[in-house]
Amino acid sequence: MTVTLVPAPVVVSDPALAGSLDVLGVPGEINLDYAATAPCARVAADAVTALLPWYASVHRGAGALSRRCTLAYERARQTIGDFFGARTDDHVIFTRNTTDALNLLGRALPAGTTVVTFAGEHHANLLPWPRGSVRLPVPADPGEAVRALDAALGELRRAANPGLPVLVAVTGASNVTGELWPVADLARVAHRHRARIAVDAAQLAPHAPVDLLALDVDYLAVSGHKLYAPFGAGVLIGRADWLDAAPPYLAGGGATVRVGAATHDVTWNVGPARHEGGTPNLLGAVALAAVCDALAGADRDALHAREQRLLARLREGLAALPHVVELRTFGPEAPRVGIVSFVVAGRDSADVAAELAARSIGVRDGLFCAHPLARRLLGEAAARSGRRDLPPTALRASIGLGSTEEHVDRLVAALAALD
Ligand SMILES: Cc1ncc(COP(=O)(O)O)c(C=O)c1O
Repeated sequence: MTVTLVPAPVVVSDPALAGSLDVLGVPGEINLDYAATAPCARVAADAVTALLPWYASVHRGAGALSRRCTLAYERARQTIGDFFGARTDDHVIFTRNTTDALNLLGRALPAGTTVVTFAGEHHANLLPWPRGSVRLPVPADPGEAVRALDAALGELRRAANPGLPVLVAVTGASNVTGELWPVADLARVAHRHRARIAVDAAQLAPHAPVDLLALDVDYLAVSGHKLYAPFGAGVLIGRADWLDAAPPYLAGGGATVRVGAATHDVTWNVGPARHEGGTPNLLGAVALAAVCDALAGADRDALHAREQRLLARLREGLAALPHVVELRTFGPEAPRVGIVSFVVAGRDSADVAAELAARSIGVRDGLFCAHPLARRLLGEAAARSGRRDLPPTALRASIGLGSTEEHVDRLVAALAALD
């Protein structure tokens, strides 16, 4: 079989963005599914192209190419750590994505750690945690989240062995509603109770600056493929002590200092290498670092304002359609990033997504790997709208750097035209 790859020209989404923050795409295809995977930024593609001739081993060779690749990998680590405000003694560990990063953290928890989450999390931040973890109900607003956490941690400290560690794991922005979670306030509460906090920044990082130090959070997990870099590179950034004391996440070459003749005679590395066994994803790391560099040099306020204008246009367009009902956890005015989930009354969401796809509009349908939250919000949407014909799954439109008013308008028009 011959597969013909059509060259994908650069899409310049907005003259104000032309330059370092262009994203690649295919003309005519409207991608409104950035929350699943964002298009690749041109800087990421350029960084990969520039490095390809130097292709050689990382941390494993003495040749010039190999040394260059090792340097590029470690520079990428530094750039990404700086971009996310890592403390000097934090580890920046390359992973495949956020799911991988949170699973790594889950495996690094000291024995007896209790993890506290909210039921509004993505599965990646619900499932890696040990038995005995506490799942708090989805709060009605950010203030309730803070109060509920305060109460839960107080109770936990009274009930459990006060010496045992507690980790709070929350998202920065919901992948279902785009709503922002009060991360800095939750961090303050966690630390007051001598707990640590991990933030799932998979959805927040593509839309807003995330600074570990400024937010005073202990761990951060990010996916490169949602941040305009290619698939396969993410990071876990955070406190070194638990990570250095934990068994290696991936046992193998690179994770060891010395391996003896006896089966279990192994001295494991400390530092990021302990958990990065095997040959690393150099191109992914370098591409992600290139995006971080470009974003660090961008006017983030202008990007935010632009995205919020598009988001408002999208939400207003949807609100004007009598058969469309938006899903939300907090109030309609709650701050959010460019993600909106909704249902079309009387229509199966998968069918609607297929009809949109036929018009070259890509959205997501389903329960968005956040089943507890999505089901709850579907129930609430039915109660709020008084409609009995809402489907059991939803649709999600999400925007970012390459999105335009035309994309938003085309979606709204296509939904309006559904019979
Ligand atoms: C909030 C959130 N956390 C975690 C993940 C998991 O990301 P990944 O699939 O890149 O591991 C996602 C993916 O959609 C997400 O939206």
